[in-house]
Amino acid sequence: MDLGLKGKNAAVTGASQGIGYAIANALAQEGCNVALAARGEERLNQAVADMQAHGVTAVGIVADLSNEDGCKAFADGAAEQLGGIDILVNNVGGMIPGTLDSLSPDDWERVLNVNLMAAVSMTKYALPHLKQGRSPRILNVSGVSGTQLLPGALTTTIPNAGIIGFSKVMAGELGPAGITVNNICPGLTSTESWGPRAEAMAKVRGVTADDVRAAIAGQTLLGRWAEPEEIGNVAAFLVSEKASYMTGTTVEVCGGFTRYI
Ligand SMILES: NC(=O)c1ccc[n+]([C@@H]2O[C@H](COP(=O)([O-])OP(=O)(O)OC[C@H]3O[C@@H](n4cnc5c(N)ncnc54)[C@H](OP(=O)(O)O)[C@@H]3O)[C@@H](O)[C@H]2O)c1
Repeated sequence: MDLGLKGKNAAVTGASQGIGYAIANALAQEGCNVALAARGEERLNQAVADMQAHGVTAVGIVADLSNEDGCKAFADGAAEQLGGIDILVNNVGGMIPGTLDSLSPDDWERVLNVNLMAAVSMTKYALPHLKQGRSPRILNVSGVSGTQLLPGALTTTIPNAGIIGFSKVMAGELGPAGITVNNICPGLTSTESWGPRAEAMAKVRGVTADDVRAAIAGQTLLGRWAEPEEIGNVAAFLVSEKASYMTGTTVEVCGGFTRYI
């Protein structure tokens, strides 16, 4: 199936590794030009080189998206370097391990800024560019901890649930302008950042990190974790021409982790 992404321009946040990298790579494989943002320059440059190998324009912009200035710089820089933005993927996020007792106000500020407010600010600053885009799409990356209780995942649950609400509201506000806004909820995905996350969840549950990994795999219907590419492929569809009548929707890519009907 031709997704109709060839020649489009996408800005992807948190794209030097993990799920963001996989989403940007899936888009580049479809012929979509990509702008990638992250803080660390070395990994970002490598990711850009990987995307360029697909024959598209790929640019990396070093930006700290935990503040408005960084988000504005990435939105404007991506538009300038690619010649516009048709697709925004709000992927950036991370987990700060901890419990209600152990997490400090600083921890909360950091995690909410990166996991929730970065999507809000990026959307705000990318919108003027998206409004001039071709079949504009916004895809927000949330996570199954935003739809189902995942003990030990306090600092991702709260922003993930917020992202789902944000997507719905924005879908309502931007529908008349023909901009679709959807939400993808990955299940537990084998990315570099999972080492510390599993350790943190293990502490809360009083088990080992390996126990946590095995328990999560056992909770899925497929009996395994996701590979980042499996999230990237669905994301590419959701921002494509083929998903033209989908908006305000939350799509779980979780191997059957969530069990509600
Ligand atoms: N992995 C999972 O199991 C899972 C499950 C559900 C949902 N998710 C969600 O999927 C998204 C990606 O997760 P992941 O596991 O792929 O994360 P990851 O491996 O930790 O990658 C995070 C990416 O974001 C960048 N980044 C982090 N903080 C940043 C900041 N302040 N400004 C700019 N860039 C920043 C990182 O590069 P630098 O450090 O160089 O900046 C990196 O490129 C997150 O929103 C996460 O909540 C993940």
